[in-house]
Amino acid sequence: MLPKRIIYPLAILLMAAACSQGPKDPVDQKVEALLKQMTLDEKLGQMTQICFSEITLTGDKNLDMHPELFREAVLNYHVGSFLSGTGPAQKWVDFVTDMQRIAVEETRLGIPLIIGIDHVHGANYVDEGTMLPHNITLSCSFDTDVIARAAAITAKETADLGMVWNFAPILDVGKNAWWPRLYETYGEDPLVCAKMGAAFVKTYQDPQYADPYRLAACAKHFIGYSDPRSGHDRTPAEIPDQILYEHHLPPFKEAIGAGVMTVMANSGEVNGVPVHVSYKLLNDLLRKELGFDGVLLTDIKDIFKVYDEHRGAFSEKDATLRAIEASVDMSMACNAFTFIYLMKELIDEGKITEERIDQSVRRILRLKFDLGLFDNPYPRSDRLHRLNSDEHVAEARKLAEESIVLLKNENDLLPLHTSGKRILVTGFAAHSKKMLNGAWTLEWLGAEEERQPENMRTVYQAISKEFPDARVSLFETAADGSITSEGTFRNAVNQNDIIVLTLGEEPYSEFRGNISDLNMPPQQKRLAELAGAAGKQVIFVLVQGRPRLITNIEKHADAILFAGYPGQGGADAIAGILSGRVNPAGRLSFSYPRYPGNVIPYYHKEFSKPQNLYEFGHGLSYTRFTYTNLRVNNTTFTTPKQEISLSFDVSNTGQREGDEVVLAFFRQERGHITRPVRQLFYFDKIHLPAGEKQTIEIRINPMEVFAYPDENNQLILEEGEFTMMVGEMEQVLTYHK
Ligand code: BGC
Repeated sequence: MLPKRIIYPLAILLMAAACSQGPKDPVDQKVEALLKQMTLDEKLGQMTQICFSEITLTGDKNLDMHPELFREAVLNYHVGSFLSGTGPAQKWVDFVTDMQRIAVEETRLGIPLIIGIDHVHGANYVDEGTMLPHNITLSCSFDTDVIARAAAITAKETADLGMVWNFAPILDVGKNAWWPRLYETYGEDPLVCAKMGAAFVKTYQDPQYADPYRLAACAKHFIGYSDPRSGHDRTPAEIPDQILYEHHLPPFKEAIGAGVMTVMANSGEVNGVPVHVSYKLLNDLLRKELGFDGVLLTDIKDIFKVYDEHRGAFSEKDATLRAIEASVDMSMACNAFTFIYLMKELIDEGKITEERIDQSVRRILRLKFDLGLFDNPYPRSDRLHRLNSDEHVAEARKLAEESIVLLKNENDLLPLHTSGKRILVTGFAAHSKKMLNGAWTLEWLGAEEERQPENMRTVYQAISKEFPDARVSLFETAADGSITSEGTFRNAVNQNDIIVLTLGEEPYSEFRGNISDLNMPPQQKRLAELAGAAGKQVIFVLVQGRPRLITNIEKHADAILFAGYPGQGGADAIAGILSGRVNPAGRLSFSYPRYPGNVIPYYHKEFSKPQNLYEFGHGLSYTRFTYTNLRVNNTTFTTPKQEISLSFDVSNTGQREGDEVVLAFFRQERGHITRPVRQLFYFDKIHLPAGEKQTIEIRINPMEVFAYPDENNQLILEEGEFTMMVGEMEQVLTYHK
């Protein structure tokens, strides 16, 4: 019992709190105090985000401010947020310092700005930034620690430059191989996307990497963006609710659980409704069901696009009203102030209330307070040595080494024995940094070679360094892989023993990557045929954002690597795998189809068997791992939460140490609706010295693992059999109430 002298003041305090009208949380109090002073115009400005291209001298992302245009945006329109620039670190610091000074010192209330950026593979819009592998590559590590390490580097290199809001991670499930943003995803599996997305959010928002700043991540693009029927960007997706809940929702749910502060809406349409105006998906699902109360941002110009591109509204005003009704907080209006005008009209007409505006402005101010912007709005330049530090550069290489996948290695061609041999490095990415870093590197479509990191090697340079005892030469092709003379190419091939042929895709972003043929482009296929016809040892290195089909040319290669877009350490990682310095451990985080007419994720239903060239999870090592001894503590469970313990042994039975990706799947044998033939429920990466064994123990909560959303979106766990699958082993569990 509390002593009396404590009870008395406590009672007074409690009574005072109960009587007071305002919020108790100190940040809420600050938000309310500020909100009370704001005019409607100031509030609408906070809800508006404008592109740097509207406030720079050159009208692009370069960091040279046009002071009049900027002042007009901030002083006349009260704009509270800006996005997207590119340039050297010091210029970022100066630019954002100038911006913040004007916002803080020259506006009536001194509310700091919040600056957004797409740092989706490292601090990729900063000249000195360390360009990390893109997500499709990283996800092949099946290691959430890899994602956390990448997020930590990104946070450290971004924090000091004033961009506190990162439009990452992408949580769209990459289940459509045509989709031009597949490379931005963590692959096709919902669990992998969920765990990796959450790892990114937790690390990126962890104050320790940004201190004294705070950073916000942005879960995007909510929801159903990644599976458009045509495969083209931002085209209609038709996704039954059941699939939406089972496949697309988990990554967002997990990110919200991990505390993600902001969400960006999907600029496509789902089931005929542009998502930006979908009350059902934004208000009901995101806000109510998932309980997300942070800032919901539109994608670029997307309220306008609902009207102009989707034709899903009668006017831009109609689109604005419906987006606000659907619970959007901030419009990434980018290049116009129309949003502000239209909002005012809607308020005048009584269609939007000021309470509704306050709701969004509250969230935005809260974000700014939580990020410490009011106390610490200015960037700093005393720690710029953190960018591209030796440590980060070494990590960039390691992340690529841990992620690149060895798809084929016939007759153990790799590791290469090269003494006295001649190696030809060729193909579109043989001597290019741009191809390895991919898009979103200093420019939306990837910057030209001159702007790519200096301290980075091309594949040709890395192979030359890796194999000092070999004679390495280069045969360059055009950026699309075409050549002017087949004869010259043939001669070059004939003069060499080993041909390293890079195949794949030049960097592309969003709709610029739309294709209608998943096959490897014909000119590149031709190179593969010519290389194959010469009877040499041929290695394909696939540098690409999605699985371009190689079914007809795969036979020409003795070894094949999937590199994705491996970033600035990519070439060294590729060379290291070829030489054996690195024992490859990446596994495919997506299915690699055999035919363009048969592209289905591995968790397909029984009647649509995929015909893949390489399965989800496929990847080779220079050692061998065997799985034995699958056992469970109980083969029957009787309640939904009864813990089941499953264990098995993984042994390295080869000659060298290595990393192994451990994947465990299950299949619900029968359900009242069709269930996937296989479903991943556990993944991890382990390290095993040669000859050693490790026992893996997994504890399962049946409700978490086996339950699924039914056709009414209700989570159900059905009685019956569940087959657990690890390696070649299976074990049936029965649920019987
Ligand atoms: C993309 C978003 C990105 C935004 C800002 C849009 O085109 O869809 O993913 O965050 O641009 O750059």
